[in-house]
Amino acid sequence: RTPIIFDTDPGVDDAQAIALIMADPDIEVLGMTTTYGNVPVETATSNALLLAELGGHSIPVAQGAARPLSKTPNPFPTFVHGVNGLGDIDLPTPTTRAVDTTAAQFIVDETRKRPGEITLVAVGPLGNLAVALQLDPTLVDRVKQVIVMGGSVKQGGNVTPLAEANIYSDPHAAHRVFTAGWPLVMVGLDVTHKTHIDPERMARIAKGQGKLGEVLADSYSFYADFYRKALGINGCCPHDSCAVAWLKHPELFKTVRGHMSVITDGLAQGQTVFAPESAVFAEDRWSQTPLIDVCMEVDGERVSQWIEDVL
Ligand code: BDR
Ligand code: CA
Repeated sequence: RTPIIFDTDPGVDDAQAIALIMADPDIEVLGMTTTYGNVPVETATSNALLLAELGGHSIPVAQGAARPLSKTPNPFPTFVHGVNGLGDIDLPTPTTRAVDTTAAQFIVDETRKRPGEITLVAVGPLGNLAVALQLDPTLVDRVKQVIVMGGSVKQGGNVTPLAEANIYSDPHAAHRVFTAGWPLVMVGLDVTHKTHIDPERMARIAKGQGKLGEVLADSYSFYADFYRKALGINGCCPHDSCAVAWLKHPELFKTVRGHMSVITDGLAQGQTVFAPESAVFAEDRWSQTPLIDVCMEVDGERVSQWIEDVL
């Protein structure tokens, strides 16, 4: 089984991704770490705990970043995920509680127990990973790989014309994470916008998931309304599930290796600027930054079919 720590800000599409990691027998979820992003961090923690309970899993949840490292926080995207992060449907209060450790410390501690084995799947703003790197710079050598849902190279942004939401929410953290020098793959809008879950597929997914399925389906309706208005599509983009799909089925994606820099300030704040390895001269300053892999193409139909199959 593949051990992961899932860093998340649930979030309708986060909720589906959480259902996926719980349902896939090959994935061992060591814990979830929460961050502000779609909702305040306390709400993210409560949603993560509740989703684990509804799925019948006992997963440690460690609360993390309440705000960006240095920029003024953005308003919460209530028109995308609702005030409660799950489409403003009625939700029970979770009966479990978060662990006492902070998210960043949890990441440091778990990777010390299992050096070289753990994959970090990060599907929210990247503050927890950035703080973990600050707490312990040797973390880069202990993590097997980092999969980030965020950013965009060819597609433009979804929160500004140039910036994707997770990166825009904390561009300083994102820059640190992208340039830390660990094996990292970026699963951004270039592929998540080409992957859709239509209402019929969502209805079939919900059927297999009991009480958790009701939450996924009801919150999906709110989220799909946003996508109908914003992108004119019948369905929605399962951004965060695409990061999980990459973990299990990288062959469904085409990646390009290169150097990444995040614009931290000004009008282009949050833009992910990519220089493919093939375009960089040895004497260029770009060559001094680490290489990462960026998803450029996807077989979106097969990814959404895989999501349905697992759930
Ligand atoms: C990302 O931003 C959030 O709204 C989603 O949960 C996803 O992680 C997509 O840009
Ligand atoms: Ca998310």
